[in-house]
Amino acid sequence: MKKIVIEGNQTLSGTINIDGAKNSAVALIPAAILSDEFTTIYNVPNISDKNVLINILKDLNCQVLETDNILNINSSSLKNVLIREDLTSKLRASYYFMGALLGKCKHVEICLPGGCNIGARPIDYHLKGFEQLGAKITIEDNKYIIDAKKLEGAKIYLDFPSVGATINIMLASVKASGTTIIYNAAKEPEIVNVATFLNNMGAKITGAGTSKIKIEGVEFLHKGIIEVIPDRIEAATYIIAGALVGNNLKINGVIKEHMESLLSKLSEMNVNYKLKDFELTISKTDNMKPVSIKSQVFPGFVTDMGQPMSVLLTQCDGISFFEETIYDNRMGHVKYLNNMGADIKVKENTEIICGKTKLQGKKVIATDLRAGASLVLAGLVADKTTEISQIDHILRGYANIVEKLNNVGAKVKIVDE
Ligand code: EPZ
Repeated sequence: MKKIVIEGNQTLSGTINIDGAKNSAVALIPAAILSDEFTTIYNVPNISDKNVLINILKDLNCQVLETDNILNINSSSLKNVLIREDLTSKLRASYYFMGALLGKCKHVEICLPGGCNIGARPIDYHLKGFEQLGAKITIEDNKYIIDAKKLEGAKIYLDFPSVGATINIMLASVKASGTTIIYNAAKEPEIVNVATFLNNMGAKITGAGTSKIKIEGVEFLHKGIIEVIPDRIEAATYIIAGALVGNNLKINGVIKEHMESLLSKLSEMNVNYKLKDFELTISKTDNMKPVSIKSQVFPGFVTDMGQPMSVLLTQCDGISFFEETIYDNRMGHVKYLNNMGADIKVKENTEIICGKTKLQGKKVIATDLRAGASLVLAGLVADKTTEISQIDHILRGYANIVEKLNNVGAKVKIVDE
């Protein structure tokens, strides 16, 4: 077991380059198998979730060549075998092999997906979507068997604009006969990235990035390339680090349109930042104003930024509120931030954060990915040393986090527990 050790109170300056988005890459890799030729994915982040998905591809007899941040995937000799639980349980996004294999082979056998423990995470919208396309679903012990004689385009209305269901239905319907329309689709940038990849292979998808996506089925998907978009959650995490302990810290790879909700809150708080082209420069700001934030689907304030943002709110002068509306149990960070000296009360799904409080380094536990990110941020601004255990959660989603932070002046290391 490893832990991250952070010496607090160091000033960060220099440049942090943002890697490809985890939540795009984890969908693009399964999407690659839909090509009847081969595909190349650029700017793939060096995260452990990627390694698990590559292992699934290898189990499916796909050829995978990885050089630096580029993945070449050839699925022409694909063998449609059961996707094992020891792999599926490591991440939520293993469920994108449901849509991809259903779309390609009309048959999938896959064990239950895993992912962060942040509340109930049903996949009923995905399954209903597959059924509407003509699939039959059987659940046997710990596995789903999804089978279709024929996939036919359908009009599918999502009860909630789910990111995963929108992508999975696109993957399953891209080779169906006829036209599929997804109403109340999710609009997140990662969905546009996946649709662009499929269109590069010859798919006919329009409307990605809006709430109505139209997919005209095609018979063949040729070779395709795609670049993973920058990770807006990784960018947000380092932007918050800059607001806490930065001195002209530069974050390179910020797409303004993907981050409006965060940037407008930072302005409301009087945080000192400048964005030019794709580079954001940020410094520690004294006298930050408290704010109220509510997580929402894109373009609202993304739930994944909530836990990191809580740390910044502990440093505002006054009472801030963060209401989590997407997940029912995304408060794993609160206990540990309070151990470090924060004053956060949780009422239903709202954090009430009283600032400003001085944080002290402590031994803490990363209960999930973004909780872990929030503890790294707290460690950067705290006095003395913070030791974070269960760091596998953090390494699932933050590429080279230790190197990136140390390059800009932090004192962070990974050691054996
Ligand atoms: C994606 O999860 C992300 N994960 C999450 O990021 C992110 O928090 C979430 O989208 C929202 O933006 C990946 O992309 C791998 P949803 P996903 O389906 O697709 C309910 C991170 O920290 N729902 O949009 O699983 C669900 O319970 C992670 O990087 C159903 O009820 O999220 C939730 O309340 C964590 N039935 C809401 O919808 C369904 O069939 C949104 O979920 C599907 C979802």
